[in-house]
Amino acid sequence: MVYKGTILKYSQFLSVDNQTPIISISEGRTPLVPAPHIAKATNVGGISVYLKMEGMNPTGSFKDRGMTMAVSKAIEKGANKIICASTGNTSASAAAYAARARAMGFEMECYVIIPAGYVALGKLSQAMIYGAKVIQIEGNFDDALNIVKSLTEKYPIELVNSLNPYRIQGQKTAAYEICDELQCAPDYLCIPVGNAGNITAYWAGFKDYVKNPSARPKLFGFQAAGAAPIVEGKIIEKPETVGTAIRIGNPASWKQAEQARDESQGLIDSVTDEEMLEAYRMIHQMEGLHCEPASAASVAGLLKAAKAGKIQHESTVVCVLTGNGLKDPQTAMNQSDLEAAQKSYQANEEEIAEILNLKAKV
Ligand SMILES: Cc1ncc(COP(=O)(O)O)c(C=O)c1O
Repeated sequence: MVYKGTILKYSQFLSVDNQTPIISISEGRTPLVPAPHIAKATNVGGISVYLKMEGMNPTGSFKDRGMTMAVSKAIEKGANKIICASTGNTSASAAAYAARARAMGFEMECYVIIPAGYVALGKLSQAMIYGAKVIQIEGNFDDALNIVKSLTEKYPIELVNSLNPYRIQGQKTAAYEICDELQCAPDYLCIPVGNAGNITAYWAGFKDYVKNPSARPKLFGFQAAGAAPIVEGKIIEKPETVGTAIRIGNPASWKQAEQARDESQGLIDSVTDEEMLEAYRMIHQMEGLHCEPASAASVAGLLKAAKAGKIQHESTVVCVLTGNGLKDPQTAMNQSDLEAAQKSYQANEEEIAEILNLKAKV
């Protein structure tokens, strides 16, 4: 049978019934890829590491799992406008699902508010081509979210940030998929933390799916060191990090993330931009896999936790790679030999053979 997305697959765990118009673009069913070289780099004996490739969702991030629910429920309720604040991926996803809803004959407009200059071009271009109204503000994500919260209190517009409970519900499906594929829960789940909706959703998902509390994973969440309000225990007024997707100083699901950490006996720690970028290069160069910089916080965090002796031998670890690397080609170029890539040569075979240091066949 043709796969038709997360709502139909996991409807028994979601607040949907036959009155819910299902707006889906076949999100979910993302690969869980073994990462033996990262496993080796942890120096933890007998460890198995898997990367959950959430960048292979239709708009290139995990947001699609929550957005299929949020937009379906908005339409069920009779809404015809949605709005979100975004570091980029939420806006791309909201815009896509609004487009799909329009294509199915529903009236649906999408407004997105983003911090000017801090959204990777791939994400901004997605929101635009899907037909959203994009508003860039001179402020950060937290300012954008405050505006969106206030607008949705005063005007008939549906909020589709992860404050919307249906977003969290939909995002639980990634935890179900991991358990289905491993045929049990992993021992640890490492995940980047920004607004903290995703860590909240994974924990709710594992609680739904794994009845025995001692068989649930420990959740290890990682913030960027320049945007680590939960780690520091205070709002960060001017968050900064190369992982722009998690450049957030006052997470909406702060309390729920702490609850996920405590109930799972996990941790929330930070990784520096250098650690994130080193993990980003490793994911590409050692495993041949692709993700955006913020996603690499999960692997950077695993390496940090392993070094500190916080990962047990023989354990199974899943690191969530939340977004697709193609969204942020600039960081990929900056982390490579940019100068070499910008040079161009004459179209001359002999010269190219010389540059490539090729030796003629004998
Ligand atoms: C690629 C990526 N990773 C991680 C996150 C953080 O997720 P959350 O805000 O749910 O903590 C985001 C949020 O925008 C994201 O886009």
